[in-house]
Amino acid sequence: MAKKRVFSGIQPSGTLHIGNYFGALKQWVSMVDDFDCIYCIVDYHALTTVKDPAQLRNNTIEGAKDLIAVGIDPSKTVLFNQSAVLEHTELAWVFECLVSVPFLMQAHAYKDKIAKGLEANAGLFNYPMLMAADILLYDTDFVPVGADQRQHVEYAREAASKFNHMYGDTFKEPHEKILDAVAVVPGTDGQKMSKSYGNTIPLFGSTDEIARSVMSIVTDSSGTTPSNVLAIHRLLKPEEELASLYEKNMGNYKALKEALIDDLDAVISPMRAKRNALSDDDVKAVLTEGAEKAASIASAKMRDVRKKIGVGT
Ligand code: TYM
Repeated sequence: MAKKRVFSGIQPSGTLHIGNYFGALKQWVSMVDDFDCIYCIVDYHALTTVKDPAQLRNNTIEGAKDLIAVGIDPSKTVLFNQSAVLEHTELAWVFECLVSVPFLMQAHAYKDKIAKGLEANAGLFNYPMLMAADILLYDTDFVPVGADQRQHVEYAREAASKFNHMYGDTFKEPHEKILDAVAVVPGTDGQKMSKSYGNTIPLFGSTDEIARSVMSIVTDSSGTTPSNVLAIHRLLKPEEELASLYEKNMGNYKALKEALIDDLDAVISPMRAKRNALSDDDVKAVLTEGAEKAASIASAKMRDVRKKIGVGT
């Protein structure tokens, strides 16, 4: 039986944090053998916020290094950058002509970003339809993501169903895969870890940078267990081990933070070493090959779409 298809994407908008890793990328890696996986660095999505061309191009290359370093094996997956397959932006336009403005206005991610003071550009507003195009071009079954992307996958399902209803069966309706335990990885202040909240622990930071972030975790002086430290520690160690560690060091927040730094470093240092061994040329070659494979699927789907909607001759 053919493997089910998995598609997911990440924005090349700067340094990865451990929320990206535990919330999504670790799951991406775990699916590689059992599913037909396509992973995409969504540079056109990042254009909604990153306006410096050199930075965007560099982030894309660095993002590919990150994905390979966390364990995504390019020989077993398709790994590419979104802008290399033009059908993504083309299909997004088709969906934008199908859905209404009030429908897009319900997007939580858009509302949050505007509330945080980001410029309300039209790309940011239409963002869910570009993401729907990413997913639907490849007949995706599952989309592994953190909880913050749940509504975006619902939007993709809606776009598929609207199109199929209007033009005939064309797109498969995808389903999100969200792991409950890591659906929302908390940051150093206990809120969702997010670059825009300034509460991140960098995934590929040096040991010193990781230590600085961990030492800044907000602790509550009234109790005996630093809950924000424990919440991050749960990503790394089983509950029984943590119970005895936290019992032994009750009230000693410094020792518990130091234990967390060691545990994070043990996971991160092999990935950091792998990352340092990758050259720009290595990853450019991976992206080029990935884009060719992705384009062969996307172009066939788009030919069908163009025929159905009545564009071209
Ligand atoms: P992005 O680039 O913001 O994040 C990449 C992945 O990391 C997850 N994530 C988290 N998970 C748990 N806890 C956190 N604190 C946390 N922070 C980030 C995100 O849920 C995501 O899975 N719109 C997407 C990119 C995208 C995409 C796609 C994803 C574009 N097209 C198609 C899937 C399929 C985004 O901005 O992710």
